[in-house]
Amino acid sequence: MTPPSGAAAASLKAAPSSAAPARPAFGTVLAPTMVVSKYRDGKWTPLDTRPVGAIEVHPAAHVLHYASTCFEGFKAYRWADGSVNVFRMDRHIERLRQSARALVLPEPDADQLAQMIRLAIEKNRDQVPEAPGALYMRPLLFGTTPNIGAAATPADEATLIVLASPVWDYFAGGMKPLRIYVEDVNSRSATQTGRVKTGGNYAAALGPTLEARKQYKSDQVLFAPGGEVQETGAANFLLIKKGKILTRSLDSTFLHGVTRDSLLTMARDDGYSVDERVFHVPEMLEWSRDGEAALSGTAAVLAGVGVLIHRGKEYQLSGGDVGPTTQELRQKLVSIQRGEIADRHGWITKI
Ligand SMILES: Cc1ncc(COP(=O)(O)O)c(C=O)c1O
Repeated sequence: MTPPSGAAAASLKAAPSSAAPARPAFGTVLAPTMVVSKYRDGKWTPLDTRPVGAIEVHPAAHVLHYASTCFEGFKAYRWADGSVNVFRMDRHIERLRQSARALVLPEPDADQLAQMIRLAIEKNRDQVPEAPGALYMRPLLFGTTPNIGAAATPADEATLIVLASPVWDYFAGGMKPLRIYVEDVNSRSATQTGRVKTGGNYAAALGPTLEARKQYKSDQVLFAPGGEVQETGAANFLLIKKGKILTRSLDSTFLHGVTRDSLLTMARDDGYSVDERVFHVPEMLEWSRDGEAALSGTAAVLAGVGVLIHRGKEYQLSGGDVGPTTQELRQKLVSIQRGEIADRHGWITKI
C-alpha cells in the first residue's frame, strides 16, 4: 500500500498535496477517523466515531491549568497476509489506566479502551501501511472540569480520544546511528512521575533536548540525574553486548517501556544474561569501549547509538555504527511484530 495522500488522511498542517513527502514525518499525518468518549456525572458517554478535527475545550479546563493529561502510543501492523495486528495492546491499555490513576483522572476500564482502539483501527483500516510502516495508535485522556481553582481537586469530567496515524521512521534518516547527549545533572521528570506517560514530562525534556541539539547536534538526551542512568526523552536505554544486556531496573523514575519488556523477554528466551539494576555514567562509558547501546520504544523500535557525548567529550560505540547485536535483536522484534516469526507470548491481537 502506498502512503496515504493528503486527501485520504487528515493532515495536521494544510500542505499542498503535491508537496507532501512520500513518507511523512512521524505523527504529522492523522488517519481520518477518531473515537471519542466523555466522562461526566460518573459515567462515560457512548463511543462517538467522528472525523478528526478540532474539539471544543473550555479555557478553564483542568488540563489547561493543572496538566491532567496522559496518553499511550503503540502500533498496528499490516501483515503480508493483509491482516491487521496490534502489538501488546493489553500492556498499553494497562499503562494508560495506571497513568490515569497516578493523575487522579477518571479511569476507563480495559474493555472500553480495547473497544475504542478496535473501532479506531477498523474505521481507519485502509490507512494501515504495509511494512515497514504501521498505524500508530494514540489514546489520549485529559481532565475537562472547568474550574481554575482546582489545583488540589481532581478533574471529575474528562475526555478520552483515540487517534491513529500512519507512520514510518521515527528518527529522520531511518536506521542511522544516533548521537546521544548525556545529561548528568538534571532529571527528565519529578522522581515520582517518571513512570507516568503524561505530557508535562515531555514538555520538561524539550528545553534540554533542543539545547543539546544546538550545541552538540545530538538526536536525543539521555537523562542520568546525579550520574544514575535512566532513559532518554522518548525511549528507554539499553547497553548491549553479545549474549548480554544491562539496563536500569524498574522504579518510579522512568517509563516502563513495553518495547523494553519485550526485548528483555526475547533476550532471556535466547539465553542472554539480562542485568536490570541501577548503573552510573562511568560504567556506561566503560561499556562503550567494546559494547553497544540502543534506545528502545514503540517509535524508535531499537535504535542504535553511535556516539555518547558527555561533558564535551565524544565516546564512539561500535565504530560509530549500529552494533551487530542491536541489529539482530531489532530484526527479531520486528519479525514478531510483522508476524514473520511465532508469537510465543501472546503479544499479538488480531483486529
Ligand atoms: C519517555 C519514554 N520512555 C520510554 C518509552 C518507550 O516505551 P514503549 O516501549 O512502551 O513505547 C517511551 C515511548 O513511548 C517514552 O516516551
